[in-house]
Amino acid sequence: MNPIYLDNAATTQVDEKVLKAMLPYFTEKYGNASSQHVMGQEAKRALEDSRSVIAKSIGAKREEIIFTAGGTEANNFCLKGCFFAEGNKGHIITTKIEHDCVLNSCKWLEKQGCEVTYLNVDEEGFVSVDELKGALRPETFLVSIIHGNNEIGTVQDLVKIGEVCKEKGIMFHTDACQSYTKVLINVDKMNLDFVTLNSHKIHGPKGVGALYIRKDSKITPLLHGGGHEFGLRSTTENISGVVGFAKAVQVAGNSDIRYMNKLRAKLIDGLLKIPNVTLNGSKGDERLCNNINVSFNDIEGEAIGGYLDAYGISSSTGSACSSNTLDVSHVLKAIGLSHEQINTSIRLSISKFNTKKEIDYVLEILPKIVEKLRKMTPIKL
Ligand SMILES: Cc1ncc(COP(=O)(O)O)c(C=O)c1O
Repeated sequence: MNPIYLDNAATTQVDEKVLKAMLPYFTEKYGNASSQHVMGQEAKRALEDSRSVIAKSIGAKREEIIFTAGGTEANNFCLKGCFFAEGNKGHIITTKIEHDCVLNSCKWLEKQGCEVTYLNVDEEGFVSVDELKGALRPETFLVSIIHGNNEIGTVQDLVKIGEVCKEKGIMFHTDACQSYTKVLINVDKMNLDFVTLNSHKIHGPKGVGALYIRKDSKITPLLHGGGHEFGLRSTTENISGVVGFAKAVQVAGNSDIRYMNKLRAKLIDGLLKIPNVTLNGSKGDERLCNNINVSFNDIEGEAIGGYLDAYGISSSTGSACSSNTLDVSHVLKAIGLSHEQINTSIRLSISKFNTKKEIDYVLEILPKIVEKLRKMTPIKL
């Protein structure tokens, strides 16, 4: 059996069509998009065509897309850039289940004098619109709420949240790194002023992302230099990267979503047949089509992950992005899991490249691993 990669929320395999689209931009079409000669103009065209693809996919205008070096940079740019444009004061509302790059940017901003409210979520990971309304202050300038959660897959109702922000005239940002191409995003319907996107979660290359910035929004650039990206982010553009990013968006289709939904349902059904297993995150349709997060409740998730790895199956405990730290998952904590339960949890995240046969194999192996571990190391909750 080939390795079975079930850590697609951490990153994904680059699609061959993406790779093929990118290759000429390393070897033949390597011009600098700021150069006036033919090769420079060829690069410029590729850059602007890619920008149009990304813009169209979220109902935005071409000049509202700023390419970045990934989701982390786009989130930092939005939060810090808005705070600086506000005159280094004011109040941001976010949630307790954001990705670390949002939470740690907010913590940094607090040290610079920004006030931040971290909204609670319910046991399935949903933000309450009433709690949001109650948190608004006259000095609130930005609401930043993740779209699809990277750990538990819960998808927030951005239309409702966007209505609240619009009514109060407050800028609205979402981190859509996990939901992009899996859940429809429309910047007008959702009243979004900023959207963070990235490429490596959707079978594109790593190190590329984008920030959608609604025309005329107040934001201060973080990178100053030659005035690239409409003066908002200077540095020579990563043409091969953005070409790959746009190709990844073009090849992503609704049939992939339907396919992943089926695989996910099969995997969740099979896992819930194992005694004492509980599903974390949304129990309904408002869940990313590729996310499964379960607690085994009496055995260590790390131990299960280790055994799965030995069988060639890649999984993740909590968020892979934060496994550099030993802290327990702040997302699982926010939905009310105890420290012990959090330690019994694993995330399996699928992609269009996983097969039914692979899922069958996981469902054959996993119950055996669980049975073995339960005999060896039961945890008392
Ligand atoms: C929700 C979310 N936001 C932001 C990021 C960071 O994106 P990047 O790895 O492109 O910096 C990730 C991925 O780790 C993510 O899942």
